[in-house]
Amino acid sequence: MNTPQNYLDKHQDTFKEELFQLLRIPSISADPKHKQDVQSAAQFVADQLTKIGLNKVSIEKTDGHPIVYGEYLEAGPEKPTILIYGHYDVQPPDPLEKWQTPPFEPKVRDGKIYARGASDDKGQVFTHFKAIESFLKTGTALPANVKFIIEGEEEIGSPSLVPFLANNKERLQCDMVLVSDTAMFAKDTPSITYGLRGLMYVEVEVTGPNRDLHSGVYGGGVQNPVNALCEMVSKLKDENGVIQIPGFYDNVHPLTEKERKAYAQLPFDQQAYNQELEIQTEFGEKGYSTLERVSGRPSLDVNGIWGGYQGEGAKTVLPSSANAKISTRLVPDQEPKEIYHLIEKYLHEIKPPGVEIKVEEHHGGHPVSVDLDFYGLKAAGAAFEDVYGKKALFAREGGSIPIVADFAKTLNATTILMGFGLNSNSIHSPNEHFHLNDFERGMKTSARFFELLESYIEAR
Ligand code: BES
Ligand code: MN
Ligand code: MN
Repeated sequence: MNTPQNYLDKHQDTFKEELFQLLRIPSISADPKHKQDVQSAAQFVADQLTKIGLNKVSIEKTDGHPIVYGEYLEAGPEKPTILIYGHYDVQPPDPLEKWQTPPFEPKVRDGKIYARGASDDKGQVFTHFKAIESFLKTGTALPANVKFIIEGEEEIGSPSLVPFLANNKERLQCDMVLVSDTAMFAKDTPSITYGLRGLMYVEVEVTGPNRDLHSGVYGGGVQNPVNALCEMVSKLKDENGVIQIPGFYDNVHPLTEKERKAYAQLPFDQQAYNQELEIQTEFGEKGYSTLERVSGRPSLDVNGIWGGYQGEGAKTVLPSSANAKISTRLVPDQEPKEIYHLIEKYLHEIKPPGVEIKVEEHHGGHPVSVDLDFYGLKAAGAAFEDVYGKKALFAREGGSIPIVADFAKTLNATTILMGFGLNSNSIHSPNEHFHLNDFERGMKTSARFFELLESYIEAR
């Protein structure tokens, strides 16, 4: 019989080829040099959406990169409407020399597709294209109306999508949002993500003397901006991993006993974690487990720090400036804006004499928590179980997808985070990859979700 699941089985090679075409487009949203490539990726996605059989597809121009919109509303007004969200933009591939094969020349090795964007998020978003295709091309009634919104600015904080949502509330009206842009708990261990952390990203510039100085002639008599910056960074956290910014924890919901119990029951292997990362020991806020630290508690990290001489050999110089990029991950109910002000204030307070600082706000995002009783979540869990042959776990994750909070606020819609990636997929890193069998099972899980949804609506 020509069922959606059979259709998916039959066309795996074609689907892989199509995904490869998208992976070959270096749609790096952060890099203005790739503006045209981002545009081409949008065009490719729009063509895909048309090809799979949606009846309305458009490329929406914005002040930044385009948003691709598509819809199929033939299921009828009595059926639920699912908004599928994903992003076709990717992170920069640097450092290039660490890639075994070039980032935009997808290759399969050991059952994994290697390419920038393979897992984050081109490969994952493709699973839904193909799931919908499997209904529309087999003449199987799609049990829901679908709307797709695939953006090109997720990796730079979705600046255009936020106003787009607000201006298109009617058109985007839906019963739930479906997103595959997260990770499963572990290989062959499906999970549904019910919490994401928020984000506040800042940059600080420390300036000292008006020019680089001879460190023998001036050293000892003039504040060194690199030293000053390091001094400041060292005051952001204490030796117990506790963030020292006054007020930072004020709105943090403490983990409840029930939550801590749920964390403790997840099948986490600390030794395997350390081994995979080749670290001697884990580190984080005292009194919390690793899983709690990376998803249930806020964190702060320096993402980059520079200044002074970095070339070959030694140059005796007292640099005139230093910079750092610093990000914090937030949990309910921390407000990114408030956190920015707290960080800025604190940096000014701890600034040593002899330098000036300038603090700049980059993007932020609200943390997310999803109601575990939502019927869509249960349907998603059942779909995972059918395809992976294992009960789906429910877990919080540490990464951020800021637009999810906007789906709740602007569209009043709950988001189902149905990730098929793995934390070991090296997203944002060299050698990003996506397991072929997760690509395949992802398509089937998505299709199964649509098949099952109705029975869960009835049981709701
Ligand atoms: N897909 C990731 C977020 C993610 C990864 C969530 C793994 C859960 C597990 C997304 O593309 C991403 O990278 N988000 C950024 C935030 C954005 C504002 C740059 C992040 O988390 O750093
Ligand atoms: Mn992503
Ligand atoms: Mn990402």
